[in-house]
Amino acid sequence: MKTRIRPASFLAPFLTLFSTMPFLLPLQADIFDDPENLKVLPKHISPHELRATMRGFSQALGVRCSDCHKGEEGQDLRSYDFAADEKELKEKARNMLKMVAAINENHLQDFGDERVSVTCMTCHRGVRKPKLIEQVLAEAADEGGSEAMISKYKVLKERYYGSHSYDFTDRTISDFARARGEAGNTDQTIAILDMMLEENPNSFSAHFIYGELKMHTGDRPGAVVHFEKALEINPEAGFIQWRLDQLKAQ
Ligand code: HEC
Ligand code: HEC
Repeated sequence: MKTRIRPASFLAPFLTLFSTMPFLLPLQADIFDDPENLKVLPKHISPHELRATMRGFSQALGVRCSDCHKGEEGQDLRSYDFAADEKELKEKARNMLKMVAAINENHLQDFGDERVSVTCMTCHRGVRKPKLIEQVLAEAADEGGSEAMISKYKVLKERYYGSHSYDFTDRTISDFARARGEAGNTDQTIAILDMMLEENPNSFSAHFIYGELKMHTGDRPGAVVHFEKALEINPEAGFIQWRLDQLKAQ
């Protein structure tokens, strides 16, 4: 089935933003006036929509115009050759445009006119390769062990904390720590938990996972210390009391 591309369905958020902030529009509006090489977007897209689409791509992927288009970074955009197809990333973006249109038009149609539209940002969240933090850290760990994994974490946190690109919450990081242990990399679990406790000595999740780890490695007193600390941080966590009772009954 041929998919008709309706930019409005995935651009709505950008369009609202840009139409209410005319003072932010670039001076070089002319570059968007007469596109000559559109293969996926509608041929008669307005300059306003084309501009919002391109701004949206750059923001969603955290890249510059020059990553997809022929031109010198830092030079006047009017010196670019936007119609040229020489960059691989531009072709990949065309494919993504078709995918997003297919998702919205074919797979979400049952949700009716009020449906939540998928946009580039839905997956990319400001990064070119939309990996989850646990995927990035696992790759670093597989390549360079605990040390590489921790330094990767620090680099990501320094750069992205406070944005929506990566999830740095205790819950996610401690689940990742647990998964590394379950895959046989206990040293990595310990490295992550130590780092979490260094950042926040009152991390409930870190104490809980540490308690579990100590329990499994037969260190009962160690497990009790961490479970008691976790319970002190979150007295509502009944399942921890249950584990403590179990340990003490042994
Ligand atoms: C992630 C890749 C990507 C980024 C980043 C990007 N573009 Fe594009 N751009 C494309 C693609 C793909 C097309 C062609 C769409 C099609 O074939 O329908 C295009 C088309 C254009 C066109 C129309 C060219 C023509 O004559 O056919 C202009 C103008 C343009 N982009 C400007 C920009 C500007 C300015 C920026 C930076 C704010 C930018 N683009 C950022 C991928 C990108
Ligand atoms: C459903 C999730 C999803 C959506 C929505 C999505 N992408 Fe992607 N995109 C991905 C994934 C996953 C990859 C990584 C593929 C790989 O390298 O294995 C990717 C890769 C890319 C790449 C190549 C990056 C590189 O460095 O090779 C470009 C360019 C891109 N996307 C552009 C876009 C644009 C533009 C949009 C919106 C029109 C978009 N994507 C929407 C999931 C998505």
